[in-house]
Amino acid sequence: MASLTLFVNGEELHAPPEMSNAPLAAFLKTTRFKSVKVACGEGGCGACAVALVEPPAEGSGAGAAPHLRTINACLSPVYSVRGKSILTAEGLPAAATAAAAAAATPATAGGAAASSVVVERLASHHASQCGYCTPGFAVACHAALHNAATAAAKGCSSSSSSSNGSSNGGRHHDAHHHGGNGCSSNGNSAAAAAAAATAEPLLDGAGLRRALDGNLCRCTGYRPIVSACRSVGVADIEDLAGPPQPGGAAATAAAGALLLPSRAAAAAAATAAADEVEEVQLGGNQVLKVPRSLAALVGEAGWLAASATPWRLVAGNTGPGVYKDWPLAEAVLLTVAEVPELRRLEVMNGGGGGGGGSLVVGGAVTLEALAAHLVEAGGLKKQLAAAAAVGGGGGGGGGGGGGVEEWAAETAAHLRRIAGAHVRNVATVGGNLALAAEAALPSDVATLLAAAGAEVEFVVVSADADAHGASRRLPLLDFVNGGAAAGKPAAGGYIVTAVHVPLPLPYTNNDGNGVVRFWSNRIAERYSNAAAVANAAVLLRLQPAAAAGGGSGDAVVAEACVVVGVRIDAAAGGGVAAARNAAKEQDPTAVLLYGWDVRRLTDVEAALAGAPAAPAALAAALAAAPPALAAIDGLDGATAAIAEGLVAQGLFAAAGLAAAAATADGGATAAAAAPSRLPPPELVSGRQSYPAPLPEVAPVTEPTVKLGAKLQATGTAQYTEDVPVHKGALYAAYVMGAQAGAVLEAIDASAALALPGAVRFIGAADMEAAVAAPAPANGTANGNNGAANGYGYAFANRFEALRPGAPPPEPIFLPAGGRVEYAGQPVGLVLADSAFAAHRAAKAVKLTYRTAASAADASTTTTTTTTTTAAASATTATAAADGAAAAEPAPQPVTPVLDIDTALAARALYPLAALMPWLPAGKSLGPGPMTLGPSNGDVDALLAAAGAPPAAAAAGVLPAAAPANGNGSTSSCNGNGNGNGNGSSSSSGSGSSSQEAGAGAGGKARYRVVRGRYSTPSQLHVYMETQSAVAAPEEDGGVAVQSACQGTDVIQSSVATALGLPLSKVTARCRRVGGGFGGKATLSRRVAAAAAVAAAITGRQVRLHLPRNADMVLNGGRADCRVDYVAVLERRGAAQQEAEAAEQQQAIRQMALPQDAVGGWRLAGLDLFVAALGGAFPDIAWLDGMGLVSAVDSLYDIPNMRCEVAMVRANVPPRTAVRGPGEVNGTMIIEQVMEHVAAELGVSPEAFRAATFFKVPPPTPAAAAKPAPAANGGGGAAAPAGPSEADAEAAGAGSGPADAAAVAEASTTQPTAAAAATATKVAEEEVVLKMPFGKKVPAKLYTLPRLWDKLMNEAGWAGLQAEVAAFNAGHAWTKRGLAALPARYGMQRGSKPAYVNILPDGAVQVACHGIEMGQGLFTKVAQVAAATLSEALPPANRPVDLSYIKICDNSSELLPNGGVTGGSTSSELAAAAVRLACLQLVDILKAKAVPKLKNKEEYSWKELVAATSGGWGPANQLGAFAWGGQADLPEASPGAGHVPTQPEYSVIGVAGALVEVDVLTGERRVLRADIMFDLGRPVNPAVDIGQVEGAFVMGMGMMMSEEATYDSWGPQGAAGGGTGALVQNSTWHYKPPAAACVPAQLNVTLLDDSPLSQGGPISSKACGEPPLLLSTAVLMALQRATAAARADAARAAAAAAGGQQEQQQGAFVPLIAPATVQRVRTACGAWTAAERLQRAAAAAAAAAAAAATAKADK
Ligand SMILES: Cc1cc2nc3c(=O)[nH]c(=O)nc-3n(C[C@H](O)[C@H](O)[C@H](O)COP(=O)(O)OP(=O)(O)OC[C@H]3O[C@@H](n4cnc5c(N)ncnc54)[C@H](O)[C@@H]3O)c2cc1C
Ligand code: FES
Ligand code: FES
Repeated sequence: MASLTLFVNGEELHAPPEMSNAPLAAFLKTTRFKSVKVACGEGGCGACAVALVEPPAEGSGAGAAPHLRTINACLSPVYSVRGKSILTAEGLPAAATAAAAAAATPATAGGAAASSVVVERLASHHASQCGYCTPGFAVACHAALHNAATAAAKGCSSSSSSSNGSSNGGRHHDAHHHGGNGCSSNGNSAAAAAAAATAEPLLDGAGLRRALDGNLCRCTGYRPIVSACRSVGVADIEDLAGPPQPGGAAATAAAGALLLPSRAAAAAAATAAADEVEEVQLGGNQVLKVPRSLAALVGEAGWLAASATPWRLVAGNTGPGVYKDWPLAEAVLLTVAEVPELRRLEVMNGGGGGGGGSLVVGGAVTLEALAAHLVEAGGLKKQLAAAAAVGGGGGGGGGGGGGVEEWAAETAAHLRRIAGAHVRNVATVGGNLALAAEAALPSDVATLLAAAGAEVEFVVVSADADAHGASRRLPLLDFVNGGAAAGKPAAGGYIVTAVHVPLPLPYTNNDGNGVVRFWSNRIAERYSNAAAVANAAVLLRLQPAAAAGGGSGDAVVAEACVVVGVRIDAAAGGGVAAARNAAKEQDPTAVLLYGWDVRRLTDVEAALAGAPAAPAALAAALAAAPPALAAIDGLDGATAAIAEGLVAQGLFAAAGLAAAAATADGGATAAAAAPSRLPPPELVSGRQSYPAPLPEVAPVTEPTVKLGAKLQATGTAQYTEDVPVHKGALYAAYVMGAQAGAVLEAIDASAALALPGAVRFIGAADMEAAVAAPAPANGTANGNNGAANGYGYAFANRFEALRPGAPPPEPIFLPAGGRVEYAGQPVGLVLADSAFAAHRAAKAVKLTYRTAASAADASTTTTTTTTTTAAASATTATAAADGAAAAEPAPQPVTPVLDIDTALAARALYPLAALMPWLPAGKSLGPGPMTLGPSNGDVDALLAAAGAPPAAAAAGVLPAAAPANGNGSTSSCNGNGNGNGNGSSSSSGSGSSSQEAGAGAGGKARYRVVRGRYSTPSQLHVYMETQSAVAAPEEDGGVAVQSACQGTDVIQSSVATALGLPLSKVTARCRRVGGGFGGKATLSRRVAAAAAVAAAITGRQVRLHLPRNADMVLNGGRADCRVDYVAVLERRGAAQQEAEAAEQQQAIRQMALPQDAVGGWRLAGLDLFVAALGGAFPDIAWLDGMGLVSAVDSLYDIPNMRCEVAMVRANVPPRTAVRGPGEVNGTMIIEQVMEHVAAELGVSPEAFRAATFFKVPPPTPAAAAKPAPAANGGGGAAAPAGPSEADAEAAGAGSGPADAAAVAEASTTQPTAAAAATATKVAEEEVVLKMPFGKKVPAKLYTLPRLWDKLMNEAGWAGLQAEVAAFNAGHAWTKRGLAALPARYGMQRGSKPAYVNILPDGAVQVACHGIEMGQGLFTKVAQVAAATLSEALPPANRPVDLSYIKICDNSSELLPNGGVTGGSTSSELAAAAVRLACLQLVDILKAKAVPKLKNKEEYSWKELVAATSGGWGPANQLGAFAWGGQADLPEASPGAGHVPTQPEYSVIGVAGALVEVDVLTGERRVLRADIMFDLGRPVNPAVDIGQVEGAFVMGMGMMMSEEATYDSWGPQGAAGGGTGALVQNSTWHYKPPAAACVPAQLNVTLLDDSPLSQGGPISSKACGEPPLLLSTAVLMALQRATAAARADAARAAAAAAGGQQEQQQGAFVPLIAPATVQRVRTACGAWTAAERLQRAAAAAAAAAAAAATAKADK
């Protein structure tokens, strides 16, 4: 077998035969070009993007620049790029111009000095955080910009249209792609020179959106990436396109030149190309056959069909990105990619004259090539023009729009929304249609082309020589749906050779003035790179009324084609998807598929035929859509509604009614304005504002470019995956239990170990046999743990072991006989000599299960013991752990518990009281397990007075108490938000209600109770670098582990525990991490411990790097929650109202809101009962509970408040910390309560919020005289303000300021007159706001009022409210929502060590205990080190240059005991420790060196350090160690936080979000977000802005699109059954925000006059997590937009019914996150589009009639 040759960055490489069919990314990882990152391996993220360098278009002239076509290296097999030239991030050509050099970032950004212009811009725009995605972005941006620059240099007008991928690839270059288009003039033309004179970005909006749509970034929020790309303008053309290459193919690269294969290679390729069928021997005895003609292809296929050889066709090979369950080892791969006949794009019979014609699209044409052909100058237009010239007419668009041009533009735009750019560049039309026909692919191609009337041409492949080779054509939908009945051969029995698309010419019946209109759209979870939930395409042939014999009115629909594609249940539609889903029973990482149904809506088409193209007729025709959709098997109501919405949009747009103007009269609007789709999202831009740097503390406070930014952009930064391993190292892959609740009866690895490369299997039994270690301290989990088989308790040694009764941790490997507690639970590792071999073998390990169902079937004697639920069993296990039972019975299979309700009903609860003993215990809900949570005031008394049961009763965990005698009856008020006929927002069961009770002043009810239930979702981390570890045995019997972790201590201790080693024998190291977000705080233990165990057992180095699907399956994410809330409003007494009026006015005035906005009520009390879904093992999910109770009080003055939390135990992966753990849930809960209460009161939520904020009370003389409180002043609850105070108010007695919780510190000291003025000032600064749960914010640091005012007034949010109202009044089909809210994040502190050494040459080695995972910790630490050491220099010589500072890798050997990097504070803590160490060094330098320089007024850092030299010895020691933390940082207030032993401070921010929803399809856009934070004085404002943006956008994902559910609808199918495996375990299903999802305008302001200033370099606040909480504003804005939609429709209905009242405008319907398109569509109301149109028309008619009557009356 010969190796395959390819050229990477100009270097000739040879892929060994065994790698020839591996993904290109896997091969590149074995070379020195390791920049590609495999973050998903399924085409979903673009981290692996590389560019194919292709020859310039034919006719481009000598020296023309090549074309760059980006591809996913994770999907492209090595064989597909043999002989080709590839550009990776490290090979991007360096910028050559002076301008680029001038713009180059400083050396501190890392990397080589000469970088490509894109790398430079990414670095200087702070566009990388963890950096894992950055090489992919660099390649994607560079390629798009290069192609645009090439086009511009040629004088082409459109920069975006030719941006990327228009090549059809390979050597068979088609002239019509990027050449021969009239843009072939070469060189630096006048046009280019003229363009260069402008500052225009090279890519326009659409071009940039497309360039980035195949790439995901989890850290940055995209804004800096987008602005980096935008910054590359026409002035950079030379740097991008490079100088001309002599002869068009250079052997080597000059600076800036792009690389093409050498002449020799080109010649070899040409020789191979001469073969009719090239045969390439691949690894694993596979053969690739490359036919070079259709005849050869058909011949080979016939031969293969007749043989017994397993084979398949391959085209772009992107299918495996979706269908991962494909067999990997067919003996023969037959590629269609190089058959010229299958790559044609030509017009047939297009001679004009009205004779029609068609576009023939070869089966191997890529999606991007087709799109480019449709719209670019050298493509279809040119062909049609040529045809018209020959045929004498036709071919073009018709009068009045429409025709070919419209069809081409619509089709191209839609095609370019499929997948991401790198997939589109290789995915073929034929491959797509084959998958649509055979695998229920949610194909956009099928919908689009079917609506255009396309036919599929295919060649029959058959063993029967007579049948074989026949060419047939079928209508496209017959091909996809028809099966054998339609004459379509079964899978593998055909080759799609072409698709014939009739060109929609102007309709020429009678007078020839008709027109063909075409429209299409798709709705997906995300705008870009997401499979469609539904898609539709509509083609109408419109005939002038006169021609149709109908007079002169509206045009008439002569013919209609309406095609919809919809997502359906997997089991429906023939069950193709369900059959594939069966793999999930054995493999939890298998990707579950939905079904898909694509069809024509013939009833709608029939109703349209002959109808006028007018609103009423279209609405009538549309009425046929809902029943037709309802008839589709497996289609849910929300998706059906979306599909109907698409059809409505399509009909109106195609009929030319899309542009009708909206009127401002609410319901009647709908009759006039036609529904139309939302415009494409604009990519983000925005303003970043932060405090000006302070020169005296430089480089602290400066927006320094991140250390290593260029290393990241060029992909040369090393991650754990890149750590080289020794020869002989083993690669590991997890074997995972697939069926939650089943007992694992047997493990059989024999078949797996027989596979090539497999070395051995390691499971629990091997561990027990080989590893001597003490038994786990905490006992065993469900009987599953072996003696040494645990790693969790190693972490517990630091935390949980301190807490008796804490439940046991997860074992490393589940032994046979144990119960699978969650699908995905590790059973063992397969070790092999390559990663590929390990993964393949792991899937071949046979696991045998006993399920609850099978056990029940097997024997009646076991039935009674096996039909328990996991929840009940979990209770037992917990009880055992608590010591209630000594012996544990053998595990039995159970029905998995996957939801809160079931677990709560079974009382399967974690003993939170044991996990968080510092929180007050709540109700006892059973033996052992407790709820817990703080309370303030007297909630029970208030509830009794108001006649409301406690929240726990509503939650069903307490019997519903009879309403206490509340001085009056309880009356229903206002109904609830769900029952108004407008449709409920979700399935959350969020029954909300409101009632009034109690007698108050003037006989009015005194209390008003608002109750509800709400759910907050889970969210997965989706860090781009998956869990990864490399373990190696050490000489002393110890182990060294390199781990992608958030703390080397955690790794060290868990490995030591697993192996029974002293900590000193385990070394844990980490350089950097590709994103953590909490997911590597503890989950990294699993992987590190497993790898270490394998290394210890085998004595070999072991690498365990998880594939994306395995990583997601093992990752429990954040705990989802269900809250029951009871809010009690109390009517304010008149006296109280007066007393508070001034204060309220102040708040209200600031908001420019009506002064009486909040009515006469105040929020007197709130009772919350929260059930959180913990996983099968405890991990650190309790953090969610803790964070939640920390956040629910936010910044609101609620005098009586209780928050109880229970954490249920369910059969899902262990829940863990995710950025803002619990705090985001708490924020969502409290803000939803505020929304609900405001809705019930009919007031603006913003006004209600502001009225409920804490107010700073004016300092009283008593308070003023009080000395400043000690820094460690005690915590404790604020004085309760219970019903007694309210009683007095209600009786009209008045009781002074109502904000009793916001009191000044009490004092008994009487001030003297002289001291009073000073004391007042002191008091203003020191007065402390006491929060409900005992937290305190010094008044001077309470910047909420300032931030709120800034948002409302400076950012103009108050004004926007009016704009939104006006917009909503004028738009029936799109609604906007606006919401603003605050968040307070209680930031806990710890402390961290640091060790700093100054080396003789001035270099400074800094070891800090903090992991760099994108948050800029290293950069901030370096800045602080430089600034602090500068204190030893004369002012003129400051600061120490950052290039002197080197931050060392984290290593437990160098710096142990610092704990986890998490909770956002590590940057500050590490910086504080480094500062303390540096201060010691400054002292040493001042003492030892400065005296030696006394005669010099100025001296450099180097000179200073040199002055210490004079030999070895203590006098010259320039090393210092320090612990830094709470005492060294601002506003630490010990005892005030929710963990009394740790100090806490508040980070306060506010945000506003403006959204737009499409009422008919649920599509949504975030138009704008403004975020304002008080972050003190940031150490590095650019880093902090990045954290704010990134956290906000990550939170948006939680609010809008990231859904994590567990398989209860999978193959097991039983109620509550399924495998219990994560459904969204891939990028195919799980949708974090992409670039197009980010608010078009994203403004971030860091308060520039924060009162926090220590005077030293560090006066910053933590920023990594708090901003995520503010994304709640997006959800609330969406909720309000949907409320506007419901109100509109209700108004129309009422008006049509002749009623006067406006129905349920304030009705509150909570929107459950993530607000998917289905949820948003449902929340917009239950009416179908047809009903809306009809009601609106009726309303308009009623209004017209009323107006006529009124006129007549006059
Ligand atoms: C991340 C991702 C997202 C995607 N999103 C979408 C989407 O939103 N909408 C959409 O429509 N598509 C989507 N796709 C599918 C994509 O458009 C491709 O069409 C599809 O992946 C297959 O194209 P391919 O050329 O790579 O086929 P391959 O992967 O090479 O082959 C796929 C199958 O088709 C067979 N086949 C290939 N060519 C032929 C032929 N000429 N005749 C007969 N059989 C053939 C192969 O044998 C194989 O069984 C997505 C794909 C990925 C990876
Ligand atoms: S790794 Fe290739 S697309 Fe994600
Ligand atoms: S910087 Fe983009 S994923 Fe981390």
